[in-house]
Order: sequence, then structure tokens, then C-alpha cells
Amino acid sequence: MITINEHFLKLQASYLFADIAKRVNTFQEQNPDNEVIRLGIGDVTRALPDACVQALHEAVDEMANDATFRGYGPEQGYDFLREAIAKHDFQSRGADIAADEIFVSDGAKCDTSNIQELFTTDIKVAIPDPVYPVYLDTNVMAGRTDIFTDGRYGGLVYLDATKENNFVPTLPTEQVDLIYLCFPNNPTGTTISKDDLAKWVAYAHKHKALILFDAAYEAFIRDESLPKSIYEIDGAKEVAIEFRSFSKNAGFTGTRCAFTVVPKECKAFDHTGKEQLIHPLWNRRHCTKFNGVSYPIQRAAAAVYSEAGQAQTKGLTDGYLKNAALIRQKMTKLGFDCVGGDNSPYIWIDGQGRDSWEFFDMLLNKAGVVCTPGAGFGKCGQGYIRLSAFNSYENVEKAMKRIGEALG
Ligand code: MLT
Repeated sequence: MITINEHFLKLQASYLFADIAKRVNTFQEQNPDNEVIRLGIGDVTRALPDACVQALHEAVDEMANDATFRGYGPEQGYDFLREAIAKHDFQSRGADIAADEIFVSDGAKCDTSNIQELFTTDIKVAIPDPVYPVYLDTNVMAGRTDIFTDGRYGGLVYLDATKENNFVPTLPTEQVDLIYLCFPNNPTGTTISKDDLAKWVAYAHKHKALILFDAAYEAFIRDESLPKSIYEIDGAKEVAIEFRSFSKNAGFTGTRCAFTVVPKECKAFDHTGKEQLIHPLWNRRHCTKFNGVSYPIQRAAAAVYSEAGQAQTKGLTDGYLKNAALIRQKMTKLGFDCVGGDNSPYIWIDGQGRDSWEFFDMLLNKAGVVCTPGAGFGKCGQGYIRLSAFNSYENVEKAMKRIGEALG
């Protein structure tokens, strides 16, 4: 008899963004003449930078010729991309990361999901609330939680991000072994200072814990005092793995390219308490389960680091930040408390006592605007919505006008 992994039965019925897409599709079927403006899922709308498109074309031409054709590439990524990443994203900011500590992949969603396979199921996991649902769901699938009751899975340590702590979780008061952090944060759009991030690194050292640091939105940081990478903090290389993506800075959500940084000194422990390096284990997993990102896509990603690519990606993120500023300004004017949107494409909005899903339905039905209900990101998200700046300025202006009218 084939039996299933019953931990899957603990999961909520559907993935948040699939649920939202279903509601929006139903609305569109029932209201075919209403134009919907999507400020929900963080999916980019602007075309790939010219530098990337040009590199992609050139690489496709190479693939069309026997002399320059490439088959399987290195699973970890081509050196030309790994070296560019190490130099531009880390070494230029004083973070001593080498090219062979970078693992190129097809997405930060997959990497943040897959990394937990390396650890036992009896570890204590600390997860922020609200949170990008992937961290939570993959730990549920792996069997690290009890059942879901009263909005939470048993067996986890939830790190509340609320108005009281300015939506930046504080250190756990108990022993935890695996800690998920995301800055600039999805969904709240908040950032963390170097001093506060250093406290997490110190906690991880003290408690022999590991931090999984999701920096997928670092390209939106404009405040130079803020860390873009956890490796800007002394001692982080031993206790942190970092996830990055080309999705939000260079518009690769449909193109797919990301990377994970596993420093060579980063460690976990075996059941005897002996240190085990994570780098060779992740390398082993990556080589066994992944065949690498395609050559043309890696060439396109490497073009992000060219002079033109840097200017063009800055132009893209500047554009989205301009949208974010408009959203925050208009929602604030309408009387809502907002955070995020200044070093982040997300604005986290207090619904003034409204239920998150009711607020979502109201904005969809009355304004034709799609947001993300905060409750979908966790119990602490109840009462909030998230608006994303990923759309054209014109659409954001229109959406804000419609929301203003809908709210009377
Ligand atoms: C989001 O809207 O939270 C993100 O787009 C999700 C993702 O990047 O997978």
C-alpha cells in the first residue's frame, strides 16, 4: 500500500497566492468589463533590462552553433556569474565571500524551501509572523510542526512582528536552532539596522543556531547605513546562509535565476555535537537534485553586473520605489498607518480594525484593486493588507484614486 506523508495534510488548503489568484479570476469572470489592477503578488511588470536581453540573445546564438554550444553546465553555476556576484554583491561591500561559496539556482523560493532538508526534524525552528508562507509550509511538509490550531502550527517558535516592535521581531527568549529572517522584509517592507542584525548573529553563535537570511529585496535599499547582506556583520559567515534573487532587481520572475551563499565556515552539528560544515552538504544536495540554470539565463544574469546592467536595474528599482512612495503617501493621507515602501517594494497597511480578507474583498469589488491580505502571512498579519509597488506608475496612480473613491 502506498502511504502518503501525512504532514502534508496539516497544511492549509491552498498556497496563499494561488488562493488570491482564484478569487481574482472568479471576480474577473463575473465582471468581465472591470479592469483589475494587481498590487498583490510581488511580480514585476517591467521588461528585462536591455543589457540582459542583449546577453540572452548572444548566448542563444552561441547555443545555435556546434562550436560554441554548451550542454550540461556546472550545477553550482558558471564561474563568470559566480565571480561577478562575489565581486559586486559582496566583496565591494566588505563582505569576504568567494565565488565558490555561491550556488546559482532557479529561484530563492526553491532554495529557501530546499535548504531545510539538511537539518533534522527535531530542531526548534523560529519563524517570523507575518512571514513569506514558503518558510512555514516547507517545515510543515518536513514534519517539524504539530497541527494547525488557532492560526498557528504547534512546535514552532513564532517571532511576532507587530506595531509594538516596529514590525522587526525581537530575539527569542528560548533556545532555537534554525532562524528565518528576511530584510527588507516580505511582507512588511521593514528593514533591519546593522546593530540589530548583529544581535541575531550573536544569538546564533551563543545558541549554536543557524540563520537563513532572505535578502531577495536588497536592491531596494537606498539607506546606505542599512546592511544589504548579513555578511556585512562580523562573524556571520559561521552562522548564516543568504538567499538572493534576480527576480525583483532585474525582472527575472519569469526568467528564473537566483543564488544561495553558503560560506565555507558555515556549520551545523551532528548528533554527537561534532561540527559539520554545511557547504559540502549543500553542494552534494545541489549536484544530486539540480542540473543548473541554463547557460543563456546565466549570461543574462551576469549582464546585471555590467555598467549598463547596473544602471538599468537601478532604473527599474527606482521606478518601483517611486510607486511605493506614492502608495504610502496616498494611503497615509486616507488615514491608514503604513510601514515599508521606502527601502522596499512592499507597503504594510493597518486596516483600522477591518478583517484582512474583508478588506481584500472590498478593494477588489469596489476598486478593482488586488492586494494581499495580511492574515495570509500569519496571525499577526490579521487586520493588515500588503500593497505591492510592482506595476506601472500610471496603474498605481489609478489604483490609489480608485481606493480613495471606494473608501469614500
Ligand atoms: C510575494 O508576493 O510575496 C512574492 O512575490 C512571492 C515570491 O517571490 O515568491
